[in-house]
Amino acid sequence: MLEHTLWHPVALSQAVGAQAQAATLLGEELVLWRDDAGVAQAWRDQCPHRGARLSLGRVVGGELECPYHGWRFAAGGRCTHMPAAPDFQPGPRHGAHGFAAQEAYGMLWVRLAEPEGPPLPIHALPRFAAEDELSLRKTTSGPYAVAASAPRIIENFLDMAHFGLVHEGWLGSREHTAIAPYEVRPTPYGVLATGCRAWQPRSSIHAESGAEVEYSYEVTAPYMAVLTKQPEPGSSAIDDHHEAIAMFVCPVTEESSVVWTRMAMNDFDSPDARLIEFQDHIFGQDRPVLESQRPKRLPLAPDAEAHGAADRLSTAYRRYLRQAGIRFGVIA
Ligand code: FES
Ligand SMILES: [Fe+2]
Repeated sequence: MLEHTLWHPVALSQAVGAQAQAATLLGEELVLWRDDAGVAQAWRDQCPHRGARLSLGRVVGGELECPYHGWRFAAGGRCTHMPAAPDFQPGPRHGAHGFAAQEAYGMLWVRLAEPEGPPLPIHALPRFAAEDELSLRKTTSGPYAVAASAPRIIENFLDMAHFGLVHEGWLGSREHTAIAPYEVRPTPYGVLATGCRAWQPRSSIHAESGAEVEYSYEVTAPYMAVLTKQPEPGSSAIDDHHEAIAMFVCPVTEESSVVWTRMAMNDFDSPDARLIEFQDHIFGQDRPVLESQRPKRLPLAPDAEAHGAADRLSTAYRRYLRQAGIRFGVIA
């Protein structure tokens, strides 16, 4: 499946330590841990000996020890020791099954299968790239475990027409529900919408008044998108206030996900806790609606659900998923 050849976020980097932990990606159960050299490991959460969960094991001397018979596995998965046969030299078939893993944007990313063509990188995100590393302040909210498919969650992130209802008094108002026309175009990696505008009573923790806020949205991978937002001058306590929010979704099963948001902004003073609290509040408003949507998998047929004129971005997102051949979390 194409999805298996793409990079997906599975955990905050800072949450992956010497303690083994479980995660699930595309239905594949993983054990995550960090070796002595600080390199994050992502393996199948199943011991090659008798199938016990390695995530129940412990890290001993920089190796992961299975909880059942104590086989030990070094970074990369090689079996180094069998307590019941201490003189036996384990071979490749005794090793744990490892997956490609790398860290970026404060997250651990895992790829379950090698692509046939040239491997895709984790797509560079506007305002999160290395050259912006020093110029904007970053923080991450989540994880949010959600009983919704990854594409439903991304589509909600791209949707401005719910602001006045779901986020009334925060990101929208019932007096300003109309969505002005905006531009949508495909990109080599996804979809880009620009010139999006929303009137928001409280677009951030720094809003001093309601304001028109200009947005752009970019889908950069099937389950990843980033928005930029800039309130009109004079409406924020911060001069030239601008921020970007990336939504990272781990597709856990076809109908459940884990979500993080990564924020980049020219606010260098607010404590992380305040910024995270705002995101927690907004996502808490989205959650009940997201978990209520049926079918849970996003239907991609053009006429499967009814659309309005404000839905051009979400229909472009569905078209992109269809053309890319995405199968997980959708009804193709
Ligand atoms: S099941 Fe893991 S060591 Fe036996
Ligand atoms: Fe929302």
